[in-house]
Amino acid sequence: MNGSIFINTVALEQTYLPKLLPYRQEQHKYLAECIKPLFKRRNGTNLLVMGGPGIGKTASAKYVLRELMENTDNIMPIYINCWKRDTSPKIINEIARLMDIVSVEKLSSDELFDRIILRFNKYTGVAFVFDEIDRVKDFDFLYRILEDIPHKTIFLITNLSEWIAKLDRRLVSRLLLDRVEFKPYNFEETRGILYERRKYAFIPNSWDYDAFEKIIKRTFASKDIRMGLFLMKNAGENAESRGSEKIEVKDVEKALKKLEDMPKDIGSFI
Ligand SMILES: Nc1ncnc2c1ncn2[C@@H]1O[C@H](COP(=O)(O)OP(=O)(O)OP(=O)(O)O)[C@@H](O)[C@H]1O
Ligand SMILES: [Mg+2]
Repeated sequence: MNGSIFINTVALEQTYLPKLLPYRQEQHKYLAECIKPLFKRRNGTNLLVMGGPGIGKTASAKYVLRELMENTDNIMPIYINCWKRDTSPKIINEIARLMDIVSVEKLSSDELFDRIILRFNKYTGVAFVFDEIDRVKDFDFLYRILEDIPHKTIFLITNLSEWIAKLDRRLVSRLLLDRVEFKPYNFEETRGILYERRKYAFIPNSWDYDAFEKIIKRTFASKDIRMGLFLMKNAGENAESRGSEKIEVKDVEKALKKLEDMPKDIGSFI
């Protein structure tokens, strides 16, 4: 075999944000509506985004923030992954970093937040996304944002529907959260998404029809698009290591076997 089956393996990474996110237009429209008041220096609608793993919550939030950035310089988008940054000081440091605030002195979180507030003055509003919010260990950062930042929208994303019940009532009443639930993709949508990714990632005609159908079925059963991305990449590598130009059923079966041998919580390791 000459060359590779893959054109671009980056397109199979779970963090890859495609140009288009089909089947989520309705949700994108809703998120955009929640941000809209910021253009007029008013508070937007705060939102709790819920739904199972691997169904486009993070991708949709990032998509809407990217659209916002492409269309205006007046609203500052702030995306924070609270799994990576799970305390108020870490979150405040990250906001400062995103705002290009560099300080030579060692500032307390409160002092740093004061600088952040000053910097936000030049925008008509701030659109915050706190992803994986259920991982956060304290909510001081959220109180400060609610109290001290004049025009903002706050999206909280979680895949634990029961999480909100544990949240401090004072915080809940300040946030006035609307809710939006993402449902898993149906079979045809799952197929559409995986075909689209395949176009970015593989050279044309590299997939045997049945092999790819097997991946779609397994992905649909798991309700998690990450499963499909993992299987596509792995099956492609299996075919390559055989020196084959085509990815066949046996390559997918080998990828499935690898999956079986892994820990059960797919979201945590793929
Ligand atoms: N409609 C879509 N079109 C194209 N790719 C999609 C779509 N929905 C999800 N994906 C892809 O599936 C993968 C998982 O999506 P995402 O990271 O948004 O999941 P999530 O709902 O945030 O899951 P979790 O709750 O585990 O964080 C990503 O690579 C994403 O690009
Ligand atoms: Mg996510």
